[in-house]
Amino acid sequence: MVVELLHSGHKKAAFSCEHERLSRYLHQQARQDVARNVAQCFVLAADENKVAGYYTLSMASIPAHDLPDEQRKKLPNYPAYPVVLLGRLARDQSFALVGIGNLLLIDALARIAQVAQTQIAAFAVVVDPIDDRAQEFYAKYGFAPLKNTHRMFLPTTTVQMFAAQLNLQPTEIIPPKSAI
Ligand SMILES: CC(C)(COP(=O)(O)OP(=O)(O)OC[C@H]1O[C@@H](n2cnc3c(N)ncnc32)[C@H](O)[C@@H]1OP(=O)(O)O)[C@@H](O)C(=O)NCCC(=O)NCCS
Repeated sequence: MVVELLHSGHKKAAFSCEHERLSRYLHQQARQDVARNVAQCFVLAADENKVAGYYTLSMASIPAHDLPDEQRKKLPNYPAYPVVLLGRLARDQSFALVGIGNLLLIDALARIAQVAQTQIAAFAVVVDPIDDRAQEFYAKYGFAPLKNTHRMFLPTTTVQMFAAQLNLQPTEIIPPKSAI
């Protein structure tokens, strides 16, 4: 399996995860979001372009008052801070029980750690858990709740420390075979 940018050859329509909303996003919306630079969509592609899972990344910001006081005290007094939004993450149900969710999340975090270190600063990674189970999934990796919202965050410094300790590298991106 390989991580690729979403392209027209991926079998999007066959993708099915536990949440119809996240399956439908890949079927109907992801390509437009990529084309309009609203999100980048990374696909874990299996044999014959089957989609084993996907995640999306976008730049975003969070209001300073959403951060727990302990975090805010460590930062300059700005009204908002830059973050990377891991907006969606899902794996196909036929690929359950083989660690795809873990693989997708680690790949996303390694990519963010690398970009934040060498290219564009982001204070934290923010996720939008779709339900309580997704919240538990992210909490396992150290994501903590933000205030005033259902979103969760993980400071980039923590991600970078983790990536350095485990020598994590994001999978190299193979350019799309055809324009989307
Ligand atoms: C959440 C999701 C991505 C997990 O993928 P997965 O392939 O089942 O997860 P993995 O097998 O890689 O498990 C990774 C770890 O998370 C745990 N985990 C998996 N699903 C979980 C859930 N729903 N709640 C809590 N923990 C969960 C696993 O037990 C495992 O922990 P361990 O390493 O300590 O055993 C998958 O269930 C999915 O696509 N769900 C529908 C979409 C969704 O809810 N996305 C969440 C973001 S909005």
